[in-house]
Amino acid sequence: MYRLAYKSRSRTPIDWALVDSILETSNTNNMEREITGILIATRTHFLQVLEGPFEAVNALFYTIARDARHEALQIVSFGCVERRSFDEWAMHGVGIFGLNDTLLSQLKTTHGEEGGELRLPTAEWQVAALVQEIRQLHD
Ligand SMILES: Cc1cc2nc3c(=O)[nH]c(=O)nc-3n(C[C@H](O)[C@H](O)[C@H](O)COP(=O)(O)O)c2cc1C
Repeated sequence: MYRLAYKSRSRTPIDWALVDSILETSNTNNMEREITGILIATRTHFLQVLEGPFEAVNALFYTIARDARHEALQIVSFGCVERRSFDEWAMHGVGIFGLNDTLLSQLKTTHGEEGGELRLPTAEWQVAALVQEIRQLHD
């Protein structure tokens, strides 16, 4: 099992309709390819974690990297993992812009800001921390 995380900048302002259209394609495709993960979006950036078989994760990443809806992709991490972290989600979407103000300011205190938006992290351990914080919202 492999896991890849990357950050990118959207070419247009992100709203839920954009995230949702990505999720719609992702849910069908990812299920077929045994890929699971999470897509976190602010108004300006994406942070996505993909996990699954080596070939499938690689192939999907290169498809996504060519998608004209975003640019400036940065790989945060890629490696072999013992098991999935997101086995319940073919692709779970989280719009940071949809969170309430209290939560958002808490996250900004931890992770910082980038152009007024929550700064999506580029260090692997910070990504794990952010995912953990987001997971708690579902519990
Ligand atoms: C930020 C971002 C994340 C994406 N994530 C996925 C994904 O997890 N799975 C997927 O199949 N497509 C994803 N896409 C879409 C792909 O780039 C591509 O448009 C899609 O896979 C094409 O699918 P189709 O051949 O079924 O039309 C993503 C696009 C963007 C911009």
